Amino acid sequence: MRSHYCGQLNETFIDETVTLCGWVHRRRDHGGVIFIDLRDRDGLAQVVFDPDTVDAFKTAERVRSEYVLKITGRVRLRPEGTENADLPSGKIEVLGKELEILNAAETPPFQIEETDVNEELRLRYRYIDLRRPHMLERLKLRSRVTQALRQFLNQNGFLDVETPVLTKATPEGARDYLVPSRTHSGEFFALPQSPQLFKQLLMMSGIDRYYQIARCFRDEDLRADRQPEFTQLDIEMSFIDETMICNLMESMIRQLFKDVLAVELPEKFPVMTYAESMQRFGTDRPDLRNPLELVDVGDLMANVEFKVFAGPAKDPNGRVAALCVPNGKELSRKQIDDYTDFVAIYGAKGLAYIKVNDITQGREGLQSPILKFLPDDVIQGILERTKADTGDVVFFGADKAKVVNEALGALRLKIGDDLKLSQAGWQPLWVVDFPMFEWDEKDKRWVSLHHPFTAPNITDIEQLNATAGTCLSRAYDMVLNGSEIGGGSIRIHSPEMQSAVFKLLGIAEEEAREKFGFLLDALKYGCPPHGGLAFGLDRLVMLMTGANSIRDVIAFPKTQTASCPLTSAPSTVSEAQLRELHIRLRTKVTE
Ligand code: AMO
Ligand code: AMP
Repeated sequence: MRSHYCGQLNETFIDETVTLCGWVHRRRDHGGVIFIDLRDRDGLAQVVFDPDTVDAFKTAERVRSEYVLKITGRVRLRPEGTENADLPSGKIEVLGKELEILNAAETPPFQIEETDVNEELRLRYRYIDLRRPHMLERLKLRSRVTQALRQFLNQNGFLDVETPVLTKATPEGARDYLVPSRTHSGEFFALPQSPQLFKQLLMMSGIDRYYQIARCFRDEDLRADRQPEFTQLDIEMSFIDETMICNLMESMIRQLFKDVLAVELPEKFPVMTYAESMQRFGTDRPDLRNPLELVDVGDLMANVEFKVFAGPAKDPNGRVAALCVPNGKELSRKQIDDYTDFVAIYGAKGLAYIKVNDITQGREGLQSPILKFLPDDVIQGILERTKADTGDVVFFGADKAKVVNEALGALRLKIGDDLKLSQAGWQPLWVVDFPMFEWDEKDKRWVSLHHPFTAPNITDIEQLNATAGTCLSRAYDMVLNGSEIGGGSIRIHSPEMQSAVFKLLGIAEEEAREKFGFLLDALKYGCPPHGGLAFGLDRLVMLMTGANSIRDVIAFPKTQTASCPLTSAPSTVSEAQLRELHIRLRTKVTE
Protein backbone atom coordinates (compact mmCIF):
# COMPACT_ATOMS: atom_id res chain seq x y z
CA MET A 1 0.00 0.00 0.00
CA ARG A 2 2.45 2.66 1.18
CA SER A 3 5.82 3.59 -0.28
CA HIS A 4 7.07 5.54 2.74
CA TYR A 5 6.15 6.45 6.29
CA CYS A 6 5.06 10.09 6.63
CA GLY A 7 7.89 10.99 8.99
CA GLN A 8 10.54 9.61 6.63
CA LEU A 9 9.97 12.22 3.95
CA ASN A 10 12.40 15.10 3.57
CA GLU A 11 14.10 17.21 0.88
CA THR A 12 15.90 14.21 -0.58
CA PHE A 13 12.56 12.99 -1.98
CA ILE A 14 11.83 16.13 -4.06
CA ASP A 15 9.91 15.29 -7.24
CA GLU A 16 9.40 11.68 -6.25
CA THR A 17 5.90 10.22 -6.31
CA VAL A 18 5.06 8.65 -2.98
CA THR A 19 2.13 6.79 -1.48
CA LEU A 20 1.33 7.41 2.17
CA CYS A 21 -1.17 5.71 4.47
CA GLY A 22 -2.27 7.11 7.79
CA TRP A 23 -4.68 9.12 9.91
CA VAL A 24 -5.86 12.69 9.40
CA HIS A 25 -4.12 14.62 12.13
CA ARG A 26 -5.48 17.97 10.98
CA ARG A 27 -7.34 19.27 7.98
CA ARG A 28 -7.32 22.95 7.04
CA ASP A 29 -9.37 24.53 4.32
CA HIS A 30 -7.48 27.57 3.05
CA GLY A 31 -10.09 28.90 0.64
CA GLY A 32 -9.48 26.89 -2.45
CA VAL A 33 -6.61 24.75 -1.16
CA ILE A 34 -6.99 21.92 1.37
CA PHE A 35 -4.13 20.94 3.67
CA ILE A 36 -4.10 17.58 5.38
CA ASP A 37 -1.50 16.67 7.98
CA LEU A 38 -1.29 12.94 7.61
CA ARG A 39 0.03 11.01 10.61
CA ASP A 40 1.46 7.55 10.98
CA ARG A 41 3.78 5.77 13.37
CA ASP A 42 6.76 7.76 12.13
CA GLY A 43 5.39 11.28 12.16
CA LEU A 44 3.52 13.84 10.10
CA ALA A 45 3.54 14.88 6.46
CA GLN A 46 1.68 17.82 4.99
CA VAL A 47 -0.39 16.99 1.92
CA VAL A 48 -1.90 19.72 -0.28
CA PHE A 49 -4.89 19.29 -2.55
CA ASP A 50 -5.74 21.96 -5.08
CA PRO A 51 -8.98 22.13 -7.07
CA ASP A 52 -7.16 21.22 -10.32
CA THR A 53 -7.05 17.57 -9.23
CA VAL A 54 -10.82 17.46 -9.24
CA ASP A 55 -11.56 14.01 -7.81
CA ALA A 56 -8.98 14.08 -5.06
CA PHE A 57 -10.01 17.60 -4.08
CA LYS A 58 -13.67 16.59 -3.84
CA THR A 59 -12.78 13.65 -1.63
CA ALA A 60 -10.52 15.84 0.51
CA GLU A 61 -13.47 18.10 1.22
CA ARG A 62 -15.26 15.20 2.92
CA VAL A 63 -12.33 14.18 5.09
CA ARG A 64 -12.45 14.70 8.87
CA SER A 65 -10.09 14.18 11.82
CA GLU A 66 -8.86 10.59 12.28
CA TYR A 67 -10.16 9.37 8.91
CA VAL A 68 -7.83 6.72 7.51
CA LEU A 69 -6.45 7.68 4.10
CA LYS A 70 -4.26 6.48 1.32
CA ILE A 71 -2.68 9.34 -0.60
CA THR A 72 -0.47 9.37 -3.67
CA GLY A 73 1.28 12.54 -4.67
CA ARG A 74 4.49 14.30 -5.61
CA VAL A 75 6.97 15.62 -3.04
CA ARG A 76 7.88 19.29 -3.45
CA LEU A 77 9.53 22.02 -1.41
CA ARG A 78 7.18 24.10 0.69
CA PRO A 79 6.91 27.70 -0.48
CA GLU A 80 9.37 29.97 1.29
CA GLY A 81 8.18 31.12 4.71
CA THR A 82 5.83 28.17 5.24
CA GLU A 83 8.43 25.66 6.45
CA ASN A 84 7.95 24.03 9.83
CA ALA A 85 11.25 23.65 11.67
CA ASP A 86 9.63 21.37 14.30
CA LEU A 87 8.96 18.58 11.81
CA PRO A 88 11.56 16.37 10.10
CA SER A 89 9.34 16.65 7.01
CA GLY A 90 8.84 20.37 7.64
CA LYS A 91 10.69 21.57 4.55
CA ILE A 92 8.55 19.62 2.10
CA GLU A 93 4.94 18.84 1.32
CA VAL A 94 3.18 16.33 -0.88
CA LEU A 95 1.05 17.61 -3.72
CA GLY A 96 -1.85 15.16 -3.58
CA LYS A 97 -2.91 13.50 -6.84
CA GLU A 98 -4.98 10.57 -5.61
CA LEU A 99 -6.89 10.22 -2.40
CA GLU A 100 -8.70 7.17 -1.13
CA ILE A 101 -10.67 7.13 2.11
CA LEU A 102 -9.89 3.72 3.60
CA ASN A 103 -12.14 4.33 6.55
CA ALA A 104 -14.16 7.12 8.10
CA ALA A 105 -13.96 7.97 11.81
CA GLU A 106 -16.42 9.42 14.24
CA THR A 107 -15.35 12.49 16.14
CA PRO A 108 -12.83 11.13 18.65
CA PRO A 109 -13.66 11.44 22.38
CA PHE A 110 -10.60 13.68 22.76
CA GLN A 111 -8.23 15.40 20.40
CA ILE A 112 -4.91 13.74 19.74
CA GLU A 113 -3.17 17.01 20.53
CA GLU A 114 -5.10 17.74 23.73
CA THR A 115 -2.69 17.45 26.65
CA ASP A 116 -4.99 17.46 29.65
CA VAL A 117 -7.23 14.47 29.12
CA ASN A 118 -8.76 12.54 32.01
CA GLU A 119 -6.85 9.28 32.45
CA GLU A 120 -9.96 7.12 32.74
CA LEU A 121 -11.06 8.40 29.32
CA ARG A 122 -7.61 7.82 27.87
CA LEU A 123 -7.61 4.24 29.15
CA ARG A 124 -11.14 3.61 27.88
CA TYR A 125 -10.09 4.72 24.38
CA ARG A 126 -6.53 3.53 24.73
CA TYR A 127 -6.20 2.78 21.00
CA ILE A 128 -6.74 6.48 20.34
CA ASP A 129 -4.54 7.53 23.25
CA LEU A 130 -1.71 5.44 21.82
CA ARG A 131 -1.95 7.37 18.54
CA ARG A 132 -0.47 10.36 20.33
CA PRO A 133 3.12 10.74 19.19
CA HIS A 134 4.61 10.82 22.72
CA MET A 135 2.79 7.61 23.66
CA LEU A 136 3.98 5.90 20.50
CA GLU A 137 7.52 7.08 21.23
CA ARG A 138 7.35 5.40 24.65
CA LEU A 139 6.25 2.10 23.15
CA LYS A 140 9.00 2.36 20.56
CA LEU A 141 11.59 2.99 23.24
CA ARG A 142 10.26 0.09 25.28
CA SER A 143 10.68 -2.17 22.27
CA ARG A 144 14.26 -0.97 21.80
CA VAL A 145 14.93 -1.61 25.49
CA THR A 146 13.76 -5.23 25.33
CA GLN A 147 15.73 -5.74 22.10
CA ALA A 148 18.93 -4.37 23.65
CA LEU A 149 18.50 -6.45 26.82
CA ARG A 150 17.81 -9.63 24.87
CA GLN A 151 20.81 -8.99 22.66
CA PHE A 152 23.11 -8.55 25.65
CA LEU A 153 21.82 -11.67 27.37
CA ASN A 154 21.93 -13.79 24.22
CA GLN A 155 25.51 -12.70 23.63
CA ASN A 156 26.37 -13.71 27.17
CA GLY A 157 25.05 -17.23 26.88
CA PHE A 158 21.67 -16.85 28.57
CA LEU A 159 18.80 -19.09 27.47
CA ASP A 160 15.33 -17.64 27.15
CA VAL A 161 13.02 -20.11 28.91
CA GLU A 162 9.30 -19.69 29.54
CA THR A 163 7.73 -20.69 32.84
CA PRO A 164 4.06 -21.35 33.68
CA VAL A 165 1.48 -18.71 34.39
CA LEU A 166 -1.04 -21.17 35.82
CA THR A 167 0.92 -22.32 38.82
CA LYS A 168 1.19 -22.49 42.58
CA ALA A 169 1.67 -19.50 44.85
CA THR A 170 5.17 -17.99 44.61
CA PRO A 171 5.44 -15.69 47.58
CA GLU A 172 6.90 -12.21 47.01
CA GLY A 173 4.92 -10.53 49.74
CA ALA A 174 1.72 -9.64 47.88
CA ARG A 175 -1.69 -11.28 47.58
CA ASP A 176 -2.09 -13.91 44.85
CA TYR A 177 -4.39 -13.73 41.88
CA LEU A 178 -6.24 -17.06 41.85
CA VAL A 179 -7.72 -19.02 38.95
CA PRO A 180 -10.31 -21.70 39.79
CA SER A 181 -9.78 -25.14 38.31
CA ARG A 182 -12.66 -26.77 36.43
CA THR A 183 -11.10 -30.22 36.44
CA HIS A 184 -10.16 -30.19 40.13
CA SER A 185 -13.19 -29.16 42.10
CA GLY A 186 -12.45 -26.66 44.87
CA GLU A 187 -8.84 -26.15 43.78
CA PHE A 188 -7.11 -23.07 42.42
CA PHE A 189 -4.08 -22.09 40.43
CA ALA A 190 -2.20 -18.99 41.50
CA LEU A 191 -0.72 -16.62 38.94
CA PRO A 192 3.00 -16.16 39.62
CA GLN A 193 4.12 -13.14 41.64
CA SER A 194 7.44 -13.89 39.92
CA PRO A 195 9.01 -16.94 38.24
CA GLN A 196 11.26 -17.28 41.30
CA LEU A 197 10.90 -20.99 42.05
CA PHE A 198 10.86 -22.09 38.43
CA LYS A 199 14.07 -20.25 37.64
CA GLN A 200 15.70 -21.92 40.62
CA LEU A 201 14.47 -25.29 39.37
CA LEU A 202 15.97 -24.47 35.96
CA MET A 203 19.34 -24.00 37.64
CA MET A 204 18.90 -27.47 39.16
CA SER A 205 18.25 -28.69 35.60
CA GLY A 206 21.62 -27.36 34.51
CA ILE A 207 20.36 -24.46 32.34
CA ASP A 208 23.17 -22.44 33.96
CA ARG A 209 22.11 -19.05 32.58
CA TYR A 210 18.42 -18.22 32.26
CA TYR A 211 16.42 -15.15 31.38
CA GLN A 212 12.81 -14.41 30.62
CA ILE A 213 10.75 -11.34 29.99
CA ALA A 214 8.07 -12.51 32.37
CA ARG A 215 4.65 -11.26 33.30
CA CYS A 216 4.14 -11.15 37.08
CA PHE A 217 0.89 -10.72 38.99
CA ARG A 218 0.55 -9.15 42.41
CA ASP A 219 -2.67 -8.15 44.08
CA GLU A 220 -1.34 -5.27 46.12
CA ASP A 221 -2.11 -1.62 46.76
CA LEU A 222 -1.28 0.27 43.62
CA ARG A 223 0.85 3.37 43.27
CA ALA A 224 2.30 5.36 40.41
CA ASP A 225 5.14 2.84 40.08
CA ARG A 226 3.15 -0.36 40.63
CA GLN A 227 0.76 -2.39 38.51
CA PRO A 228 -1.12 -5.60 39.41
CA GLU A 229 0.25 -7.13 36.23
CA PHE A 230 3.77 -6.04 35.35
CA THR A 231 6.84 -7.27 33.52
CA GLN A 232 10.14 -8.42 34.90
CA LEU A 233 13.36 -9.09 33.12
CA ASP A 234 14.04 -12.19 35.19
CA ILE A 235 17.55 -13.62 35.39
CA GLU A 236 19.27 -16.53 37.14
CA MET A 237 22.81 -17.97 36.99
CA SER A 238 24.63 -20.95 38.48
CA PHE A 239 28.12 -21.19 40.00
CA ILE A 240 28.42 -17.48 40.70
CA ASP A 241 28.72 -15.09 43.60
CA GLU A 242 27.38 -11.58 44.23
CA THR A 243 30.30 -9.84 42.55
CA MET A 244 30.02 -11.80 39.34
CA ILE A 245 26.32 -11.28 38.86
CA CYS A 246 26.35 -7.63 39.91
CA ASN A 247 29.22 -6.85 37.55
CA LEU A 248 27.47 -8.53 34.65
CA MET A 249 24.17 -6.79 35.37
CA GLU A 250 25.92 -3.47 35.67
CA SER A 251 27.49 -3.98 32.23
CA MET A 252 24.08 -4.83 30.84
CA ILE A 253 22.44 -1.67 32.18
CA ARG A 254 25.40 0.45 31.07
CA GLN A 255 25.15 -1.03 27.57
CA LEU A 256 21.39 -0.47 27.55
CA PHE A 257 21.69 3.22 28.40
CA LYS A 258 24.41 3.67 25.82
CA ASP A 259 22.50 1.89 23.04
CA VAL A 260 19.09 3.37 23.67
CA LEU A 261 19.69 6.79 25.23
CA ALA A 262 23.33 7.46 24.28
CA VAL A 263 23.96 7.99 28.00
CA GLU A 264 27.23 6.90 29.64
CA LEU A 265 26.53 5.61 33.14
CA PRO A 266 29.43 5.55 35.61
CA GLU A 267 32.15 2.96 34.98
CA LYS A 268 31.49 1.42 38.39
CA PHE A 269 28.20 1.78 40.28
CA PRO A 270 28.69 2.75 43.92
CA VAL A 271 27.83 0.07 46.48
CA MET A 272 26.18 1.05 49.75
CA THR A 273 25.07 -1.08 52.66
CA TYR A 274 21.45 -1.06 53.70
CA ALA A 275 22.47 0.30 57.10
CA GLU A 276 24.35 3.24 55.61
CA SER A 277 21.53 3.99 53.20
CA MET A 278 18.94 4.05 55.97
CA GLN A 279 21.15 6.19 58.13
CA ARG A 280 22.02 8.79 55.49
CA PHE A 281 18.81 8.82 53.47
CA GLY A 282 16.10 7.14 55.56
CA THR A 283 15.39 4.71 52.72
CA ASP A 284 16.88 1.67 51.01
CA ARG A 285 16.48 3.27 47.58
CA PRO A 286 18.26 6.60 47.90
CA ASP A 287 18.09 9.20 45.17
CA LEU A 288 21.73 10.26 45.04
CA ARG A 289 20.94 13.23 42.79
CA ASN A 290 19.62 14.92 45.93
CA PRO A 291 22.45 16.31 48.12
CA LEU A 292 20.54 16.40 51.44
CA GLU A 293 21.39 13.85 54.13
CA LEU A 294 20.00 12.75 57.47
CA VAL A 295 22.37 13.07 60.43
CA ASP A 296 21.96 11.20 63.72
CA VAL A 297 21.81 13.43 66.78
CA GLY A 298 20.28 10.98 69.27
CA ASP A 299 23.44 10.72 71.37
CA LEU A 300 23.37 14.50 71.88
CA MET A 301 19.71 14.46 72.90
CA ALA A 302 19.63 11.54 75.33
CA ASN A 303 19.76 13.77 78.39
CA VAL A 304 17.88 16.86 77.33
CA GLU A 305 14.74 17.88 79.20
CA PHE A 306 12.63 17.80 76.05
CA LYS A 307 10.96 14.38 76.34
CA VAL A 308 9.94 14.37 72.68
CA PHE A 309 13.64 14.05 71.84
CA ALA A 310 15.06 12.34 74.93
CA GLY A 311 12.54 9.47 74.72
CA PRO A 312 13.39 8.22 71.21
CA ALA A 313 17.07 9.02 71.84
CA LYS A 314 17.11 6.47 74.65
CA ASP A 315 14.85 3.91 72.93
CA PRO A 316 16.87 1.21 71.10
CA ASN A 317 14.18 1.23 68.39
CA GLY A 318 14.04 5.02 68.34
CA ARG A 319 15.89 7.56 66.27
CA VAL A 320 16.53 11.28 66.49
CA ALA A 321 17.81 12.67 63.22
CA ALA A 322 18.44 16.07 61.69
CA LEU A 323 18.18 17.26 58.10
CA CYS A 324 20.11 20.42 57.31
CA VAL A 325 18.75 22.39 54.35
CA PRO A 326 21.26 24.84 52.89
CA ASN A 327 19.65 28.24 52.35
CA GLY A 328 16.51 26.93 54.02
CA LYS A 329 15.89 30.35 55.54
CA GLU A 330 14.01 31.13 52.34
CA LEU A 331 11.32 28.75 53.55
CA SER A 332 8.38 30.72 54.92
CA ARG A 333 6.55 29.91 58.12
CA LYS A 334 3.69 28.63 55.97
CA GLN A 335 6.01 26.29 54.06
CA ILE A 336 7.39 24.90 57.30
CA ASP A 337 3.82 24.33 58.51
CA ASP A 338 3.08 22.55 55.24
CA TYR A 339 6.13 20.34 55.75
CA THR A 340 4.87 19.55 59.25
CA ASP A 341 1.60 18.36 57.70
CA PHE A 342 3.57 16.47 55.08
CA VAL A 343 5.64 14.46 57.58
CA ALA A 344 2.44 13.73 59.54
CA ILE A 345 1.38 11.52 56.58
CA TYR A 346 4.25 9.24 57.62
CA GLY A 347 3.23 9.25 61.26
CA ALA A 348 5.58 12.01 62.51
CA LYS A 349 4.12 13.87 65.46
CA GLY A 350 5.85 17.15 64.68
CA LEU A 351 8.69 18.77 62.81
CA ALA A 352 11.02 20.74 65.01
CA TYR A 353 13.47 23.10 63.30
CA ILE A 354 16.25 25.56 63.95
CA LYS A 355 16.73 28.50 61.59
CA VAL A 356 20.32 29.71 61.54
CA ASN A 357 20.10 33.47 61.06
CA ASP A 358 23.71 34.11 62.02
CA ILE A 359 26.05 31.30 62.96
CA THR A 360 28.54 33.68 64.62
CA GLN A 361 26.03 34.81 67.23
CA GLY A 362 25.57 31.51 69.08
CA ARG A 363 22.09 31.03 70.58
CA GLU A 364 21.16 34.64 69.72
CA GLY A 365 21.62 33.95 66.03
CA LEU A 366 19.15 31.05 66.04
CA GLN A 367 15.39 30.94 65.75
CA SER A 368 13.49 27.86 66.82
CA PRO A 369 10.53 26.61 68.88
CA ILE A 370 12.76 24.08 70.66
CA LEU A 371 15.72 26.28 71.55
CA LYS A 372 14.50 26.76 75.09
CA PHE A 373 14.69 23.01 75.70
CA LEU A 374 18.29 22.62 74.58
CA PRO A 375 21.46 23.49 76.51
CA ASP A 376 24.31 25.34 74.76
CA ASP A 377 26.57 22.34 74.29
CA VAL A 378 23.79 20.35 72.64
CA ILE A 379 23.05 23.22 70.26
CA GLN A 380 26.73 23.54 69.48
CA GLY A 381 26.95 19.80 68.87
CA ILE A 382 23.99 19.85 66.49
CA LEU A 383 25.34 22.78 64.48
CA GLU A 384 28.75 21.16 64.16
CA ARG A 385 27.47 17.76 63.22
CA THR A 386 24.98 19.02 60.64
CA LYS A 387 27.56 21.53 59.32
CA ALA A 388 24.83 24.15 59.49
CA ASP A 389 25.77 27.65 58.38
CA THR A 390 24.17 31.07 58.27
CA GLY A 391 20.99 30.91 56.21
CA ASP A 392 20.39 27.18 56.73
CA VAL A 393 17.45 25.46 58.41
CA VAL A 394 17.86 22.24 60.37
CA PHE A 395 14.77 20.00 60.66
CA PHE A 396 14.40 17.28 63.29
CA GLY A 397 12.55 14.01 63.54
CA ALA A 398 12.26 12.04 66.78
CA ASP A 399 10.26 8.82 67.00
CA LYS A 400 10.56 5.11 66.30
CA ALA A 401 13.34 4.73 63.72
CA LYS A 402 10.85 3.52 61.11
CA VAL A 403 8.75 6.69 61.43
CA VAL A 404 11.76 9.03 61.40
CA ASN A 405 13.26 7.30 58.38
CA GLU A 406 10.06 7.41 56.39
CA ALA A 407 9.16 10.95 57.38
CA LEU A 408 12.57 12.59 56.97
CA GLY A 409 13.36 10.37 53.96
CA ALA A 410 10.26 11.70 52.21
CA LEU A 411 10.86 15.27 53.41
CA ARG A 412 14.36 15.11 51.99
CA LEU A 413 12.97 14.34 48.55
CA LYS A 414 10.21 16.92 48.79
CA ILE A 415 12.52 19.74 49.84
CA GLY A 416 14.99 18.65 47.16
CA ASP A 417 12.21 19.06 44.59
CA ASP A 418 10.79 22.27 46.00
CA LEU A 419 14.16 24.02 46.23
CA LYS A 420 15.43 22.36 43.03
CA LEU A 421 18.50 21.03 44.81
CA SER A 422 18.91 17.85 42.76
CA GLN A 423 21.45 17.55 39.99
CA ALA A 424 20.30 16.39 36.59
CA GLY A 425 21.47 13.06 35.23
CA TRP A 426 21.59 9.43 36.29
CA GLN A 427 22.70 8.12 39.67
CA PRO A 428 22.72 4.33 39.86
CA LEU A 429 23.92 2.36 42.87
CA TRP A 430 23.77 -1.06 44.48
CA VAL A 431 22.30 -1.48 47.93
CA VAL A 432 23.62 -4.58 49.71
CA ASP A 433 23.81 -6.25 53.12
CA PHE A 434 20.10 -6.22 53.78
CA PRO A 435 18.88 -7.70 57.04
CA MET A 436 17.78 -11.28 56.46
CA PHE A 437 14.56 -10.85 58.47
CA GLU A 438 12.31 -8.09 59.68
CA TRP A 439 10.16 -8.38 62.80
CA ASP A 440 6.46 -8.07 62.02
CA GLU A 441 5.01 -6.34 65.08
CA LYS A 442 1.42 -7.08 64.06
CA ASP A 443 1.79 -10.83 63.53
CA LYS A 444 4.64 -11.19 66.03
CA ARG A 445 6.90 -13.11 63.69
CA TRP A 446 9.92 -12.79 61.43
CA VAL A 447 9.31 -12.03 57.76
CA SER A 448 11.83 -12.15 54.92
CA LEU A 449 13.05 -8.78 53.75
CA HIS A 450 13.59 -10.20 50.27
CA HIS A 451 11.94 -13.62 49.84
CA PRO A 452 12.32 -16.90 51.76
CA PHE A 453 14.74 -18.38 49.22
CA THR A 454 17.44 -15.77 49.79
CA ALA A 455 20.63 -17.08 51.37
CA PRO A 456 21.81 -15.66 54.70
CA ASN A 457 25.45 -14.54 54.77
CA ILE A 458 26.25 -17.29 57.26
CA THR A 459 26.12 -20.99 56.51
CA ASP A 460 25.72 -22.30 60.05
CA ILE A 461 22.09 -23.03 60.94
CA GLU A 462 22.55 -22.77 64.69
CA GLN A 463 24.21 -19.42 64.30
CA LEU A 464 21.37 -18.29 62.04
CA ASN A 465 18.80 -19.27 64.64
CA ALA A 466 20.71 -17.42 67.33
CA THR A 467 21.19 -14.21 65.34
CA ALA A 468 18.00 -13.96 63.26
CA GLY A 469 17.47 -10.35 64.27
CA THR A 470 20.88 -9.13 63.15
CA CYS A 471 21.76 -11.62 60.43
CA LEU A 472 22.33 -10.14 56.97
CA SER A 473 21.28 -11.70 53.68
CA ARG A 474 23.08 -12.07 50.38
CA ALA A 475 20.55 -9.83 48.61
CA TYR A 476 21.27 -6.82 46.39
CA ASP A 477 19.09 -4.13 44.84
CA MET A 478 19.93 -1.92 41.90
CA VAL A 479 18.64 1.59 42.50
CA LEU A 480 18.46 4.34 39.90
CA ASN A 481 17.50 7.93 40.74
CA GLY A 482 15.59 6.84 43.82
CA SER A 483 13.75 3.93 42.17
CA GLU A 484 14.37 0.27 42.91
CA ILE A 485 14.73 -0.98 39.35
CA GLY A 486 15.92 -4.47 40.20
CA GLY A 487 16.60 -6.80 43.04
CA GLY A 488 17.82 -10.28 43.69
CA SER A 489 20.02 -12.50 45.78
CA ILE A 490 22.23 -15.53 46.04
CA ARG A 491 19.82 -18.36 46.92
CA ILE A 492 19.78 -21.04 49.52
CA HIS A 493 20.95 -24.25 47.87
CA SER A 494 20.84 -26.69 50.77
CA PRO A 495 17.58 -28.36 51.88
CA GLU A 496 18.59 -28.07 55.54
CA MET A 497 19.14 -24.32 55.36
CA GLN A 498 15.92 -23.86 53.39
CA SER A 499 13.96 -25.79 56.03
CA ALA A 500 15.62 -23.80 58.80
CA VAL A 501 14.63 -20.51 57.16
CA PHE A 502 11.03 -21.68 56.70
CA LYS A 503 11.00 -22.61 60.37
CA LEU A 504 12.31 -19.21 61.41
CA LEU A 505 9.58 -17.61 59.31
CA GLY A 506 7.02 -19.54 61.32
CA ILE A 507 6.16 -21.91 58.45
CA ALA A 508 5.50 -25.26 60.08
CA GLU A 509 7.08 -28.37 58.59
CA GLU A 510 3.77 -29.66 57.28
CA GLU A 511 2.92 -26.33 55.69
CA ALA A 512 6.41 -26.09 54.19
CA ARG A 513 5.98 -29.53 52.64
CA GLU A 514 2.55 -28.71 51.31
CA LYS A 515 3.59 -25.38 49.79
CA PHE A 516 7.22 -25.91 48.85
CA GLY A 517 7.70 -29.68 49.02
CA PHE A 518 8.73 -29.72 45.35
CA LEU A 519 11.51 -27.22 46.06
CA LEU A 520 12.73 -29.04 49.17
CA ASP A 521 12.81 -32.26 47.15
CA ALA A 522 14.60 -30.66 44.22
CA LEU A 523 17.27 -29.25 46.55
CA LYS A 524 18.16 -32.83 47.47
CA TYR A 525 18.90 -33.97 43.93
CA GLY A 526 22.00 -31.99 43.09
CA CYS A 527 21.44 -28.25 43.28
CA PRO A 528 24.24 -25.95 42.12
CA PRO A 529 24.99 -22.76 44.04
CA HIS A 530 23.02 -20.11 42.20
CA GLY A 531 21.59 -16.63 42.32
CA GLY A 532 19.93 -14.02 40.19
CA LEU A 533 17.78 -10.99 40.09
CA ALA A 534 14.82 -9.40 38.38
CA PHE A 535 14.48 -5.95 36.88
CA GLY A 536 11.16 -4.16 36.87
CA LEU A 537 11.01 -3.56 33.13
CA ASP A 538 8.11 -1.12 33.34
CA ARG A 539 9.88 0.95 35.98
CA LEU A 540 13.08 0.97 34.01
CA VAL A 541 11.29 2.16 30.87
CA MET A 542 9.36 4.71 32.90
CA LEU A 543 12.64 6.23 34.09
CA MET A 544 14.23 6.06 30.65
CA THR A 545 11.27 7.82 28.99
CA GLY A 546 10.79 10.34 31.78
CA ALA A 547 7.15 9.26 32.15
CA ASN A 548 5.46 10.09 35.45
CA SER A 549 3.54 6.88 35.77
CA ILE A 550 4.21 3.25 35.02
CA ARG A 551 0.84 3.26 33.21
CA ASP A 552 2.30 5.49 30.53
CA VAL A 553 4.79 2.85 29.40
CA ILE A 554 2.37 -0.09 29.37
CA ALA A 555 0.17 -0.42 26.29
CA PHE A 556 -2.93 -1.55 28.16
CA PRO A 557 -2.50 -0.91 31.88
CA LYS A 558 -4.94 -1.21 34.75
CA THR A 559 -6.32 1.71 36.76
CA GLN A 560 -5.44 2.50 40.36
CA THR A 561 -8.27 0.17 41.43
CA ALA A 562 -6.93 -2.67 39.24
CA SER A 563 -9.53 -2.57 36.51
CA CYS A 564 -9.42 -2.03 32.75
CA PRO A 565 -11.81 0.68 31.47
CA LEU A 566 -11.27 -0.48 27.87
CA THR A 567 -12.52 -4.05 28.24
CA SER A 568 -14.40 -3.49 31.52
CA ALA A 569 -12.39 -6.28 33.13
CA PRO A 570 -12.86 -7.67 35.71
CA SER A 571 -16.50 -8.49 35.02
CA THR A 572 -19.18 -10.89 36.15
CA VAL A 573 -19.52 -14.31 34.54
CA SER A 574 -22.51 -16.49 33.79
CA GLU A 575 -24.05 -18.82 36.32
CA ALA A 576 -23.20 -21.72 34.00
CA GLN A 577 -19.49 -20.83 34.01
CA LEU A 578 -19.47 -20.59 37.77
CA ARG A 579 -21.19 -23.94 38.10
CA GLU A 580 -18.56 -25.57 35.88
CA LEU A 581 -15.93 -24.13 38.19
CA HIS A 582 -17.73 -25.43 41.26
CA ILE A 583 -18.19 -21.93 42.58
CA ARG A 584 -21.18 -20.34 44.25
CA LEU A 585 -20.90 -16.63 45.00
CA ARG A 586 -21.66 -15.29 48.44
CA THR A 587 -24.75 -13.14 48.30
CA LYS A 588 -24.18 -9.55 49.32
CA VAL A 589 -25.68 -8.75 52.68
CA THR A 590 -28.09 -5.84 52.29
CA GLU A 591 -29.24 -3.53 55.05
P1 AMO B 1 11.10 -8.11 43.54
O1 AMO B 1 9.83 -8.43 44.25
O2 AMO B 1 12.04 -7.15 44.18
O3 AMO B 1 11.96 -9.43 43.30
O4 AMO B 1 10.76 -7.62 42.08
C1 AMO B 1 11.77 -7.26 41.16
C2 AMO B 1 11.49 -5.91 40.54
O5 AMO B 1 10.20 -5.86 39.95
C3 AMO B 1 9.66 -4.55 40.05
N1 AMO B 1 8.32 -4.63 40.65
C4 AMO B 1 7.21 -4.05 40.16
N2 AMO B 1 7.01 -3.29 39.09
C5 AMO B 1 5.77 -2.89 38.83
N3 AMO B 1 4.68 -3.18 39.56
C6 AMO B 1 4.81 -3.96 40.67
N4 AMO B 1 3.73 -4.27 41.39
C7 AMO B 1 6.13 -4.42 41.01
N5 AMO B 1 6.64 -5.18 42.01
C8 AMO B 1 7.95 -5.30 41.77
C9 AMO B 1 10.62 -3.73 40.87
C10 AMO B 1 11.46 -4.77 41.55
O6 AMO B 1 12.77 -4.31 41.79
N6 AMO B 1 11.88 -12.97 42.40
C11 AMO B 1 12.50 -11.73 42.88
C12 AMO B 1 13.75 -11.41 42.11
C13 AMO B 1 14.90 -12.30 42.44
O7 AMO B 1 15.16 -12.55 43.63
O8 AMO B 1 15.58 -12.72 41.48
C14 AMO B 1 11.51 -10.62 42.78
O9 AMO B 1 10.44 -10.72 42.21
O10 AMO B 1 11.42 -2.93 40.01
P1 AMP C 1 5.70 21.08 71.24
O1 AMP C 1 6.45 21.34 72.52
O2 AMP C 1 4.89 19.84 71.18
O3 AMP C 1 4.96 22.31 70.73
O4 AMP C 1 6.84 20.86 70.14
C1 AMP C 1 7.86 21.80 69.90
C2 AMP C 1 8.38 21.58 68.53
O5 AMP C 1 8.82 20.22 68.37
C3 AMP C 1 7.37 21.82 67.42
O6 AMP C 1 8.05 22.51 66.38
C4 AMP C 1 6.96 20.44 66.98
O7 AMP C 1 6.64 20.44 65.59
C5 AMP C 1 8.23 19.65 67.23
N1 AMP C 1 7.99 18.23 67.50
C6 AMP C 1 7.05 17.66 68.30
N2 AMP C 1 7.15 16.31 68.25
C7 AMP C 1 8.16 16.03 67.43
C8 AMP C 1 8.77 14.82 66.97
N3 AMP C 1 8.35 13.61 67.34
N4 AMP C 1 9.80 14.90 66.08
C9 AMP C 1 10.25 16.11 65.68
N5 AMP C 1 9.72 17.28 66.09
C10 AMP C 1 8.71 17.25 66.95
